[in-house]
Amino acid sequence: MRVLVTGGAGQVGSHVVEQLIARGDQVVAIDNLATGRAVHLDNAPGVDFRIESIAKRESLTNLWANSAGPEVIVHTAASYSDSNAWEEDTETNVLGTLNVIRLAREFGARLIYFQTALCYGSAPKAQPVPLDYPRQPAPSSYAISKTAGEFYIEQSGIDFVTFRLANIVGPRNLSGPLPIFYKRLSDGIRCTIADARRDFVDVRDLAKVVIQAVDGRGNGAYHFASGGDVAILDLYKDVARSLGFEKLPEYDVPSTTGGNPATILLDPARTYQDFEMPKLSSISDTVDAAMAYYREFGVTREVTHMKTLKSN
Ligand SMILES: NC(=O)c1ccc[n+]([C@@H]2O[C@H](COP(=O)([O-])OP(=O)(O)OC[C@H]3O[C@@H](n4cnc5c(N)ncnc54)[C@H](O)[C@@H]3O)[C@@H](O)[C@H]2O)c1
Repeated sequence: MRVLVTGGAGQVGSHVVEQLIARGDQVVAIDNLATGRAVHLDNAPGVDFRIESIAKRESLTNLWANSAGPEVIVHTAASYSDSNAWEEDTETNVLGTLNVIRLAREFGARLIYFQTALCYGSAPKAQPVPLDYPRQPAPSSYAISKTAGEFYIEQSGIDFVTFRLANIVGPRNLSGPLPIFYKRLSDGIRCTIADARRDFVDVRDLAKVVIQAVDGRGNGAYHFASGGDVAILDLYKDVARSLGFEKLPEYDVPSTTGGNPATILLDPARTYQDFEMPKLSSISDTVDAAMAYYREFGVTREVTHMKTLKSN
């Protein structure tokens, strides 16, 4: 099968590329390396990797010989690392997504999209959040632009699946608490631990379900989540365990929540109904795999999805 993976050097994209290549698909991966790393594709021999931006329409032309187009597009590329970079978020998450939709329409390709749980706002009233909960992505530039992209996909008439995700972590996860804890603990800097809980799911488990979507399973919106949450403090303790600390390193507790929700639980029932869900990895296994990755490849900066227009 001919598959285009946008954001192919990212956490989710590179795991999907690896699985597609392993079974013999013809994969083109496009990534501008804004948050991804080329080294993430080292285990995907034969992938046609292009360092380009999906915001440029021409990046999505001449993908295969003889003007053949993709049969499926796995659209993981996204901009989120700077909450002040509204233009960048819009260029990638809206304009880039429109370019991807146009390509899908041109070739009759199926599109797999990845949406943030922040589309439900910073304090959704229902827990777990049902799939038909109203989307109200303010005040996050990332969520506003990702949600605009999702609306365009829904209106476009193409065949699509959109996975609205819990926190996806594991090897190659370079945003959020795991890389930040690793970097700070390795540099001897105190961590700040919010009194909050999050649902963490292993990227390798997600990739297995994405492959099923590539093969035609599912339609429309799904939550990819475990349905259970973990205290950030417990995650911190697990990171300290994995890094070999005998005594828990001291940490700070923020005085305010910074507008971030205490928890966001997504109802994954429809996903369990329509997909073959793998047995989800334990949080300790996922933390160990992430730490092994950081030890080998390092963490150079702190990136989070959680900053909002108001917290700038
Ligand atoms: N990781 C999570 O917890 C999480 C949660 C909710 C939604 N998502 C969504 O899942 C998808 C994958 O996330 P991830 O964790 O793999 O993030 P990631 O940052 O590892 O991967 C995104 C990739 O997109 C690339 N990219 C950014 N702008 C681009 C552009 N203009 N053109 C081409 N490539 C570009 C980046 O360099 C990166 O490699 C994203 O769409 C994200 O919005 C992720």
